[in-house]
Amino acid sequence: MNFFSEILLNWYAENKRHLPWRSTSDPYVIWISEIILQQTRVGQGYDYFLRFVNRFPDVVALASASEDEVMKYWQGLGYYSRARNLHAAAKSMNGVFPKTYENVLSLKGVGEYTAAAICSFAYGMPYAVVDGNVYRVLARYWGIDTPIDSTEGKKAFKTLAEELLDKTRPADYNQAIMDFGALQCIPQSPNCRECPLAVSCRALAERQVMRLPVKQHK
Ligand code: ADE
Repeated sequence: MNFFSEILLNWYAENKRHLPWRSTSDPYVIWISEIILQQTRVGQGYDYFLRFVNRFPDVVALASASEDEVMKYWQGLGYYSRARNLHAAAKSMNGVFPKTYENVLSLKGVGEYTAAAICSFAYGMPYAVVDGNVYRVLARYWGIDTPIDSTEGKKAFKTLAEELLDKTRPADYNQAIMDFGALQCIPQSPNCRECPLAVSCRALAERQVMRLPVKQHK
């Protein structure tokens, strides 16, 4: 395996966050967690997630609930189209959660990031997640200043993320880079003195940590 991914997985083994959606491979449960976490922080989403999957434990329970009740369980989380999309998608499933990346991606409210998260976490499929945390970690470690919101940048980061993905452990690798971005390679004042990737971090060597990642439209 490449040095970057190996260090990352070792770091994760020691620093991973134990979160309820990580101790399951049920695609339905993982889907709910990822939709909540699209626009909500872990700390705020945690209790909502537990209440939601407790009341609607599977596709059939969600599909047969009334929209009013689904919205009630979302009350306070904001971005209410997420709940409406969840409900509509559950109804479209005929009781079974889709099993291919393409069919997961075609669910209402699911984009490339969420489809990769669901398929890697639930099915162990080799799809790399690319979110804000991943952009930051990759831009810094590899010293990439292509804007992350440009067409060229999106393509370049996606390609790199796919190359780095440990195909034997896609779930662990994806969770690892997410947690690394959330806990270690944080946006402001990261603690590079205690970072296991510091020895070969290009942004650190070139004093570019705070400048990366670059956005063309702020
Ligand atoms: N943010 C989005 N998905 C997440 C996950 N699976 N674990 C922690 N934070 C996340």
